[in-house]
Amino acid sequence: MVDLDLRWIRNQFPALSQEINGQPMIFFDGPGGTQVPKSVIDAIAQYLITSNANAHGAFATSQRTDALITSARTAMADLLGCSSDEVVFGANMTTLTYSLSRAIARELQSGDEIIVTKLDHYANVSPWFALSERGVVIREVQINVEDCTLDMNHLKQQINERTRLVAVGYASNAVGTINDIATIVQLAHAVGAMVFVDAVHYVAHAPIDVRVLDCDFLACSAYKFFGPHVGVLYAKREHLARLRPYKVQPASDEVPSRWENGTQNYEGLAGLVAAINYLAELGHRVLPGVQNRREALLAAMIAIKQYERDLCQKLVTGLLEIPDITLYGITDPTRFDWRTPTVGLRLAGQTPHAVAKALGDQGIFTWNGNFYALGLTKDLGVESSGGLLRIGLVHYNTVEEIHQLLKALINIVPSDEC
Ligand SMILES: Cc1ncc(COP(=O)(O)O)c(C=O)c1O
Repeated sequence: MVDLDLRWIRNQFPALSQEINGQPMIFFDGPGGTQVPKSVIDAIAQYLITSNANAHGAFATSQRTDALITSARTAMADLLGCSSDEVVFGANMTTLTYSLSRAIARELQSGDEIIVTKLDHYANVSPWFALSERGVVIREVQINVEDCTLDMNHLKQQINERTRLVAVGYASNAVGTINDIATIVQLAHAVGAMVFVDAVHYVAHAPIDVRVLDCDFLACSAYKFFGPHVGVLYAKREHLARLRPYKVQPASDEVPSRWENGTQNYEGLAGLVAAINYLAELGHRVLPGVQNRREALLAAMIAIKQYERDLCQKLVTGLLEIPDITLYGITDPTRFDWRTPTVGLRLAGQTPHAVAKALGDQGIFTWNGNFYALGLTKDLGVESSGGLLRIGLVHYNTVEEIHQLLKALINIVPSDEC
């Protein structure tokens, strides 16, 4: 097992020491939103105590807010490997994606094409389908149902000289599949199309370098990487400057703030900076001597990726030994570089809701349903029968928690709810 200081890590997260029904709470709900370190909670409170004001005023609290916005952009730039003026904040990923799709539509003509995938969360599907109202043709890439991967041949067939944008997830929030973004970017750029990457699920699990990926846009949400509910959009500077966002006329026309509608969630930005600093501190612990925050973040995310890979292997091995379980997605450990530790499954004779409820009663928190990955649950044939049970690990989870889960799953008595 990769050596992460789990005692230190878990001590940072006050929520992890809670109990329910006499049992410790076990959080396997990370893909729906992670817990936060105490430093994030403190930073939010501290902002509200010392700096609470709107931006761009001629007085101290407003100036502190301006400084916070700058530091939040720098922190995100360190996490993603971009420049701070390529970082846009918003309410959440979905809202930012709708704003972007409407702005991109101003450049499109009837008959232009956009590619989406059946593996994606609908936050990266519906904002693009909305453009079909303007005559834009939306093409959907199929999945290989046997391992829940994207059908790359089908993707290649969809891309053509009319393609203007490919919208793809970095990783599936339902079954963990990681997509080959580098190849998709190459294919799209070869025909002059842009690439929008939904990294909401991926970001808590591995390092990101948008310069290496060369994607045009990448969106994520701080509440999926140990921060508060704030959405983040990375876009290449040239796109932020060229595209015309819908904005109120008196608001700044500077890049990137011209993309930020209305007053931002400043206390959320304070929490976001603290979440990134938490990860950086973890990086300094796993690799003492790193020179700056970007390097510390890379060190942290590499260590997290390795630790979670081991954890995932233990989980998948244990699940495969339970006869009544059907696992969806990549189960071959030699291919685990292509998955996050987010596992979708069903238990024979049980609805995912019934299993999630039974686990929840024992203090084990998992999600059930389609998680807005509707194309996937439909193609897997599980949409009309309650979708999937999702077990989502993050780096604060432990081997002991996995053993608890496996024990609980074995003991869940089949019901006739199905
Ligand atoms: C992969 C993925 N994309 C997009 C979203 C939507 O994010 P937000 O809630 O920030 O709009 C989610 C949320 O679950 C997600 O998991």
